[in-house]
Amino acid sequence: MRIEGSVALVTGANRGLGRAFTRALLDGGAAKVYAAARKPESVEITDPRLVPIALDVTDPLSVAAAARLATDVQILINNAGVTRSAGPALPDLEDARVEMETNYFGPLTVTHAFAPVLAANGGGVLVNMLSVLSWIAFGNTGGYSASKAAAWALTNATRVLLHDQGTQVIGVHAGYIDTEMVAHVEADKISPQSVAEQTVAAIEAGELEILADDLSRGVKSGLSADLRELYPSVA
Ligand SMILES: NC(=O)c1ccc[n+]([C@@H]2O[C@H](COP(=O)([O-])OP(=O)(O)OC[C@H]3O[C@@H](n4cnc5c(N)ncnc54)[C@H](OP(=O)(O)O)[C@@H]3O)[C@@H](O)[C@H]2O)c1
Repeated sequence: MRIEGSVALVTGANRGLGRAFTRALLDGGAAKVYAAARKPESVEITDPRLVPIALDVTDPLSVAAAARLATDVQILINNAGVTRSAGPALPDLEDARVEMETNYFGPLTVTHAFAPVLAANGGGVLVNMLSVLSWIAFGNTGGYSASKAAAWALTNATRVLLHDQGTQVIGVHAGYIDTEMVAHVEADKISPQSVAEQTVAAIEAGELEILADDLSRGVKSGLSADLRELYPSVA
């Protein structure tokens, strides 16, 4: 699908990768971008084509209200996400629930509300922001990995379910992206702009999956190997 002239909605658009998605869509010539955020007043980009709207992905009433307002959406980017897990222990139950509520039930709620909108506008495109951690867990990322694995499974099911209404469903996997979420991590990081530009290109090319960096490409290609290769500490 062409970005030029399209209408898009990005969740978590106020900062981090969501802001980069919003910028890339505007730079690509989108006619309108709904910048959805828990606090729409925190959206800093100014552009006459930008429409800040309130949307908390964990609040079904807020999602439904956004879907009633943004009835012209053709490209939906489920970007909003959180990470709460930290430390070498099993995930704290409350933190794991917040991650599952936001990273799995969030995109599911938004997809429920907007799938009919996409259908009414010709099928369109649904992008789910996943992670390399959909496929691999490190000791301190158990709850987040579980939520992103669930979101990956949801992405695959949604791709099949929405195929007949003509919706292109893209899963985006990346390792570390240089945003506040991983500011505390010392590692090679890809820029949010790069992930956003790859996503815009994939939308236009009709692709189904983006492996945005070497880490996600390496882990995906290693999935068929003996598990001890992915988890050397248990070898
Ligand atoms: N950074 C990485 O290394 C990395 C790697 C792979 C995948 N990802 C994924 O990429 C996406 C964007 O992450 P990021 O790196 O940009 O993180 P970030 O800088 O922490 O930004 C997270 C965004 O999600 C929003 N958000 C959180 N909970 C929300 C809710 N309940 N409803 C609506 N918005 C909510 C935040 O809004 P507020 O300002 O209101 O908090 C913020 O806009 C996430 O899905 C994340 O899991 C990130």
